[in-house]
Parts: sequence; structure tokens; C-alpha cells
Amino acid sequence: MILSIESSCDDSSIAITEIATKKLLFHRKISQEREHAKYGGVVPELASRLHAVDLPKLLEEAKPYLNDLKAVAVTNAPGLSVTLLEGVAMAQALSIAKGLPLIPIHHLKAHIYSLFIEKEVIFPMVVLLISGGHTMVLDVKGYDDITIIASTMDDSFGESFDKVAKMMGLGYPGGPIVEQLAKKGDPEKFPMPIPLQHSSKIAFSYSGIKNAVRLLVEANQPLDEQTQADIAASFQKAAIAHLLQKSKKIFSHLRPKDFAIVGGASANMAVREAFSHLCTQFDCRLHLADLSYCADNAAMVGRCAIDAYHLKHFTDPLTIEVTPRTENFF
Ligand code: KG4
Ligand code: ZN
Repeated sequence: MILSIESSCDDSSIAITEIATKKLLFHRKISQEREHAKYGGVVPELASRLHAVDLPKLLEEAKPYLNDLKAVAVTNAPGLSVTLLEGVAMAQALSIAKGLPLIPIHHLKAHIYSLFIEKEVIFPMVVLLISGGHTMVLDVKGYDDITIIASTMDDSFGESFDKVAKMMGLGYPGGPIVEQLAKKGDPEKFPMPIPLQHSSKIAFSYSGIKNAVRLLVEANQPLDEQTQADIAASFQKAAIAHLLQKSKKIFSHLRPKDFAIVGGASANMAVREAFSHLCTQFDCRLHLADLSYCADNAAMVGRCAIDAYHLKHFTDPLTIEVTPRTENFF
């Protein structure tokens, strides 16, 4: 079995996965959303202190499995340095105390493996990764063969939802709140510019739509509930139209047979629906993670670690590094 630890942002999570069967035997997660909500975003120092309390609680629950471990895996990049360090410190201690190999896991790779929990991998695949920290299209040919096709030039998709919610005083995380609110709004009420619409660039940008929302919020004070819903619906429409427009260019060029959407924001139903149409149009299979594995969790880290274990991607527990910002997958 592999014990996996996730603490890259505001979720403390531990999982136990059986190597031979890929079966998820144990999975617990403590989210800190409520603690950060009053600040409208994640406060790194607070997140770090909460991981220091919550990770040992989860490890205590995983105790019955600790004598059957073959390796320990931990997310060590990218993420918030002070929160990554909490998980890494626990993994180092376990690895040294029990003499187990230590597997460093790249957070974005773990999101890709959220598709394969208790399943075999499907490669090659084109993957759209939309989370709070990243917005990318990836050409995934194997565990060690991942190329970035497109990336955001400024804000990420999920982050733009968080900022829109914050501007309207709606709480954190903004994604689910804005999605729910958008259902009650008119997406045609406030037409917003679609970023890079007339540019041949294969890249994403969310700062322009965010600014458009800021101007609308300022111009419509005090905001009534219907105006909030109309802003949410108009924003979500433009944000998804941008994802679709650039993805369509990539589809026309690469003609993928298998396409997936992963990351916390892949739980958005409007995104899922829009891409389901695009995939039908391009005769391509759409793969989505179970809703319970879209946001950060240790189950995806554990599944990713099984492939890393077979490839012997081990690191020295005394010198494992934490890399908060990296686009390098290796
Ligand atoms: O992958 P994740 O849990 O953490 C990071 O790696 O960043 O993604 C969290 C992000 C947050 O920005 C959150 O607002 C966004 O995913 N998100 C959503 C939805 N659910 C979560 N964005 C849009 N629609 C949603 N339903
Ligand atoms: Zn994530």
C-alpha cells in the first residue's frame, strides 16, 4: 500500500491505495474553506497552522494501515510553500522512521490522475486543467511525457470565479457560489468581452473579464440579488466561451480522440455541458473525474504515486524539495 498526503493549498488529505489493485482503501479530507471564507481567499499562514493540526488527526485514523506500507507519497509542487511544507514534513518523518521510499508528486499530475482512481490510465489524452492556481491545456502521452499546449497569461479560471465572488461579497470559494447564482441570472444581461477573441494566440487570459465585472459591480451599487445573479451568469458565459474558443482551435489542430477536464473547477456543470457538445462535434471521448475527486484530495495523489512507484521515482527524504511555483512536470 501507498500512503499519500496532500496539503498544497487549503485541503488536508490522506489516502491509502493498494498498489496491485489500485484500490482506494482509505481516504479522508478536512477542508479549511470555512476558516478562509471570511477573508475572501486562502490565508497561507492560517492554512499552514490548520494543516499542522489536521494532518496528524488524519494520520491517526490511517493507523491500521501503517504496517502494510511500501511507500509514502506527498505533493511537493506546485502550491503554497508554507502548506506544502506541512505535508512534506510528515512524509519525511514517516519515510525515515519506517524506512520507506518517498515519492514526490506534482500537484497538476495528481489532478490528471484523478481520472484514473481505481481505473487503468488512458494515454494519450489532451487535458484541460482548470483550478484555482492553473488554467492549462496539456498534451499527456504518459506519466513522464506531458507538454503544455496553452496556459494562462494572468489569472486562472477558478481564481476568476473566486475574485468575482469576493467583489460581490459572496464568500469563498467563489466557483460553486457563482455557478449556483448564475442559474438564477440572465447571461445576456451584461455582455462581456471574450478575451483574446481576435488573437491567434493559443493562450488564456482572465484579467479582462474580471475587470469588466469590477466595473459592473461599481456601476450597480447597491447590488440587488437579481443584478448579482445577472452579473454571475454573464461572467460565467464569457469565461466558458473563452475556454471553448481556444480549445476549439486546439481540437481542430490536434484532433484528439480522448479529452479530459480536471481540477477543482471541472466540477462546474456549465463547463461540463459546453465541452460535452464540443467533444461530440469533434467525435472525441470526454473524460471527467468523479465530482468528489475534482477538488484537491489525497486519493488522486495516491493513484499517481502507483505509477511513480513502478517507475521508481523516489527521492531522498532528507533533501526533498518544495517547489511552490513550477510549470516543470518533472
Ligand atoms: O483544484 P483545486 O481544488 O485547487 C487548486 O489546485 O487550485 O481548485 C479550486 C478552484 C477554486 O478557485 C474554486 O473556486 C474553483 O476551483 N471551483 C470552481 C467550481 N468549483 C470549484 N470554479 C467554477 N465552478 C465551480 N463549480
Ligand atoms: Zn488543485
